[in-house]
Amino acid sequence: MEELIAVILAAGEGTRMRSSLPKVLHRLCGKPMLWHVLKSAAAVTARQIIITGYGADQVREYFGEEFFYLEQRERLGTGHALQQSLPHLPETGLVLVLCGDAPLLEKEVLQELIFYHRQSGASATVLTSRLQDPSGYGRIIRDKSGGVQKIVEELHLAPEEKALKEINTGTYCFDLGALKKYLPLLPKNEVKGEYYLTDLVHLLVEAGLSVKAHLLKDARLALGVNDRSQLSQAAALMRKKINDGLMRAGVTMIDPLSTYIDAGVEIGVDTVIYPQTVLEGETKVGKGCRLGPGAHLIDTRVGDGVLCRHSLVLGSVLEDGANVGPYAHIRPGSKIGPSVKIGDFVEIKNSSIGQGSKVSHLSYVGDAEIGPDVNMGAGSIVVNYDGRKKHKTVIGKGAFIGCNSNLVAPINIGKGAFVAAGSTVTRDVPSDSLLISRPEQIVKKGLGKRFLKKKKEK
Ligand code: UD1
Ligand code: CA
Repeated sequence: MEELIAVILAAGEGTRMRSSLPKVLHRLCGKPMLWHVLKSAAAVTARQIIITGYGADQVREYFGEEFFYLEQRERLGTGHALQQSLPHLPETGLVLVLCGDAPLLEKEVLQELIFYHRQSGASATVLTSRLQDPSGYGRIIRDKSGGVQKIVEELHLAPEEKALKEINTGTYCFDLGALKKYLPLLPKNEVKGEYYLTDLVHLLVEAGLSVKAHLLKDARLALGVNDRSQLSQAAALMRKKINDGLMRAGVTMIDPLSTYIDAGVEIGVDTVIYPQTVLEGETKVGKGCRLGPGAHLIDTRVGDGVLCRHSLVLGSVLEDGANVGPYAHIRPGSKIGPSVKIGDFVEIKNSSIGQGSKVSHLSYVGDAEIGPDVNMGAGSIVVNYDGRKKHKTVIGKGAFIGCNSNLVAPINIGKGAFVAAGSTVTRDVPSDSLLISRPEQIVKKGLGKRFLKKKKEK
């Protein structure tokens, strides 16, 4: 079978998005619309050509050199966009044409379209759908015998045609022989000053070639995103698909409607996700975890049996059995070791915490390397910044850092050392020693009572 090529039209500015970002870079479930389209396209074709235009550099930068780009310098419509690819397409075979703003068309749908096109031997096959509310889409006009006659854009519909429910999804299969011959002949639409790809259908029919329509049964997948309201509709559908897939694979979700998981996030079996949990980017979660309510993890690797509630974790690792939150903030570059406890109102930045250590309440730990079985008391602070530079702190195995102590970095607290509560530590503490650094306590007998009495008399 001949090599199958996909051309993806992605040059439009997306005026209706009202954005400085090219439309196809707007994201749903963490990835740009065009990413979703390319994923489906790459699953069914050997080569993908992307037609870029508005924000071409941004699009190229995101997707890299793995793809072949052609720039449509003047945006003269979808037909003109596809014309850019003609010199780069072989003389025979077939091409799949997709719109960069239809992110829900999954590979199965494209496979079906290609299969149907090959079987029928048509010169062109349009993927169509039936919508309750077809407004905004091009409509399929059929002749008396039910054959496809042409596609008419919403703007040009006769009043009686407005009721037609069969729409053009903007996805097509073309026989390359026919495309090479007829695409250059597209007329310019005088109202819009554009070359409509949809007009090619009529050209082919007029030339006596066969054009078929393949109906997409699940009309929801046809959604073309032109504005941010449609973007949110597409995202909701994509989210449902992701969540359903994960639940079928053994993940429990207490409320999938309030669970937000990016495309590509992996989660192991028997993990339970509570409401208002957001898992973003390159996050990977192990088995038997409990995440949420209110866990927000970005680019984070989570081991097995981890508990994380009401917390934000960015670019970090939570190893097996770690227990995070409520109300912890773990910032990039942190490694929370096995069975570590990170409690309420604790911030950890770029630090590693060894197995079984506890940072249970109200602490800040930055640029530190904390060994196993360390106890960081309530309110203990790693003073990593001197106003100019960040410095490192090392705390050895089994050390005990008393409540409300300040460890002024750079500093080294030896194994098994004991730092008394309220100490400000500015020099290294040797292993197994006790450090106490706070003013001596003064007690004046009876003075408290006298003081309070005077206050009352006033
Ligand atoms: C298009 C179809 C319409 C169909 C709908 C499906 C045409 C004329 N109309 O309308 O029949 O129902 O999609 O969603 O084809 N693009 C370019 N260069 C251009 C113009 C557009 O690359 O000069 C790209 C856009 O980036 C977009 C795609 O083509 O990804 C479709 O363009 P858009 O303006 O969104 O077309 P619609 O009005 O939605
Ligand atoms: Ca569109």
